[in-house]
Amino acid sequence: MQNTEKMRKTIDRLTADTMLDPQELKLLLQDNSNETAEYLREQADMVRRRTYGNSVYIRGLIEFTNYCKNDCYYCGIRCSNKKADRYRLSKEEILNCCETGHELGFRTFVLQGGEDPYWTDERLVPLIEQIKGNYPDCALTLSIGERTPESYRKLRAAGADRYLLRHETADPKHYGRLHPAEMSHSNRIECLRALKSSGFQTGCGFMVGSPFQTIDNIIGDLMFIKEFQPEMVGIGPFIPASNTPFVNEAQGSVEMTLKLISIIRLMNPMVLLPATTALGTASEDGRAKGIRAGANVVMPNLSPVSVRKKYNIYDNKLATGCETAESLDRLCLNMEKIGYKIEKIKGNYPTFDRKNGDDK
Ligand code: 5AD
Repeated sequence: MQNTEKMRKTIDRLTADTMLDPQELKLLLQDNSNETAEYLREQADMVRRRTYGNSVYIRGLIEFTNYCKNDCYYCGIRCSNKKADRYRLSKEEILNCCETGHELGFRTFVLQGGEDPYWTDERLVPLIEQIKGNYPDCALTLSIGERTPESYRKLRAAGADRYLLRHETADPKHYGRLHPAEMSHSNRIECLRALKSSGFQTGCGFMVGSPFQTIDNIIGDLMFIKEFQPEMVGIGPFIPASNTPFVNEAQGSVEMTLKLISIIRLMNPMVLLPATTALGTASEDGRAKGIRAGANVVMPNLSPVSVRKKYNIYDNKLATGCETAESLDRLCLNMEKIGYKIEKIKGNYPTFDRKNGDDK
């Protein structure tokens, strides 16, 4: 009881100051009681409502290539996975996804893919221009990995609005245990800084329960996010993927992911925070739980049904049912049931609208 009281006070301070000492964060993360998780959730929900009311934004996810030149140990589409069934959508197929999505009410499209050398700036720029030309009322998000600062500038100049690049872990040593030697933590962070200076609304994030992750790593991730001040943060539980070195590792904890969603909301009140597909895959109703814990974005899949099962970054990834864009009506109902409302608008980061005179 005494401990519960102490934790409440700590959470109240986190809510008021949007910050805690690393030592206090550690105690909070190590407290596995339901009371603590529930109080965190309540506070996070209150803080989210201050900025966003009960709005939940939707993003139409287009997984447009699963070719990847990288070999991340955790990822099912790593280049060493010879069993991955590779595909690449054509420009026409991508534009068709946007058309379907726009009719359904999506006003943000997310082009997500592996680091596919086919998609040079010369190919991406006209695609971006066409999507933004066809749908000037929509935001376009890219999630296509590490590129040069020059490339980021070109993609931004072509009209892309946002960019997701998870930092994966803020600790270079931990980063080295998740990635082959050719990849570097410092380059990852430089990419994130370059994205910000190119004028993208930028998203970072990490997996919860990735192999070798410690509580101190997680605290480092929270501190990194606080310092970097991204417009978006994506987190989800690690889920083992077949034909990867980590296939036999344990799945990340759903409860820890939910607590972290709440803590990230409290530390970064206005951040756009998705209830991710990984969370939905790891737990029944995972997405609804994520929203209740302080997330305010969901990203249904707009990829053609024929390729959906091929974008297997981890096993058993949701590809049917409520996950799909076609089930948007059902998603709206499910959100209404728990007191939230899906908004069919762009849903930019709040101060970004002010800066750009754009509040659609
Ligand atoms: N489990 C959970 N998330 C994963 N990602 C990649 N592989 C996995 C996995 N096995 C995440 C990474 C990447 C994002 C696109 O998906 O954080 O940045």
